[in-house]
Amino acid sequence: MPKQQREHWASKFGFVLAAAGSAIGLGNIWRFPYKAGEYGGGAFVVAYIVSVFIIGIPVLIAEFIIGRSAQKSPVGAFRELRDSRYWPLVGWLGLLTGFMILSYYSVVGGWILKYIVVSCTNGFQTGAATAEFNGFLASPGQQVLWHGVFMLVNIFIVRGGISSGIEKWSKILMPSLLVILFVLMVNSLLTSGAAEGMRFLLKPDFSKLTRAGMLEALGHAFFSLSLGMGAMLTYGSYLDKDINISASSLEIVVLNTFYAIMAGLMIFPVVFTYGVDPGAGPGLFFVTLPEVFARMPGGQIVGFFFFLLVAFAAITSAISLLEVVVSFFIDELGWTRRRSDYILGCVIFLFGIPSALSFNLWSGVTLFGGKNIFDILDLLATNFMLPVGGFFIAVFAGWILTHGEKEAEIKRVENTFHFYDIWHVLIKYVTPIALIIVLLYTTGIIRFLE
Ligand code: PHE
Repeated sequence: MPKQQREHWASKFGFVLAAAGSAIGLGNIWRFPYKAGEYGGGAFVVAYIVSVFIIGIPVLIAEFIIGRSAQKSPVGAFRELRDSRYWPLVGWLGLLTGFMILSYYSVVGGWILKYIVVSCTNGFQTGAATAEFNGFLASPGQQVLWHGVFMLVNIFIVRGGISSGIEKWSKILMPSLLVILFVLMVNSLLTSGAAEGMRFLLKPDFSKLTRAGMLEALGHAFFSLSLGMGAMLTYGSYLDKDINISASSLEIVVLNTFYAIMAGLMIFPVVFTYGVDPGAGPGLFFVTLPEVFARMPGGQIVGFFFFLLVAFAAITSAISLLEVVVSFFIDELGWTRRRSDYILGCVIFLFGIPSALSFNLWSGVTLFGGKNIFDILDLLATNFMLPVGGFFIAVFAGWILTHGEKEAEIKRVENTFHFYDIWHVLIKYVTPIALIIVLLYTTGIIRFLE
């Protein structure tokens, strides 16, 4: 397809919101608080922020540079920039990773939609949350149904394309998300557990931050910024040349961290007020919080808005995953957007069914010491495939692209403090080394960390 026909974002604001929308998702609102709960609250937050600076921002910038200079989705981008048989494999890996993540992310997205409905109908009853959630997980029909509904929403948005689909919806959903998050946060901060909740999240207790926790923080920085599989690269490929990549990246990262901290400030005060366990793990959302909503005055309304806000966050992330896959078929096979969207949306839905069945019919199908299909996909994609993808993206940007190619995308002159040079040292040495350490650890090759 000739370059001038490629779709583009209508404005920088729209692009930043869409990319922040991709970043801000279940990772920030669901995973971040329970990981912080596990690894010493504020200490984990500090480790996360450091990770965002040493690997998050450099890789984010690298993805935007690669995407914008190639004007292609991941597979085509590497092929466009270097005539090599091997580099496009990084794109293929990204495509596969996006496909996998979306397939199970959509199952959790479905849970959220179901809980919006629960809060509108019978609401939350004290002492009933565990049984309710387990009953829901045990029903294959319900799991597949809600997973399907979530995919349909994504297919609907991506069908509209870049400026009139993804960008338009991001401009509606992200500000709404901010308003709801802010109101719920203030509401939480007015409860009696506010001081304790804030202390938990903001006061670093480094004794609880194990080395494993530090690596979790690094891995989480990756997942939470949607890095390593070409989602940001794809968004970058729709970017106009006159938009400043370094400034946009900083804005996206600041928004992402800000929303995560706000989510923590919304969750922990009520967790302490109602005396439930802050380190409750993945069940924090679907068991612990419904219990809180059941006991809280006006809890049904708070619960409704809470799940609505999480749904908005999940949708703006899932569309970026679907866009990676859809854009591949548009760019490489010349399919129309609609055809690519409908077909791939359905294929990913089908591929997600085993994850939806992991909690019921197929719960016996386990690997790696008892992990079900859902857990295995998450483990492989986030702990292994994203860091591998990120490593190669960093190497490509740091070692393969020439200074000339990079400076065409982030100019040295427009940046004070030699931003370009700092970025370059990070992407060339620091990021790849940090990622190798993460990978050696997650694959179990080094065990000194336990
Ligand atoms: N960043 C998203 C989140 O925090 C997840 C995601 C990962 C989205 C990778 C796209 C690509 O939930």
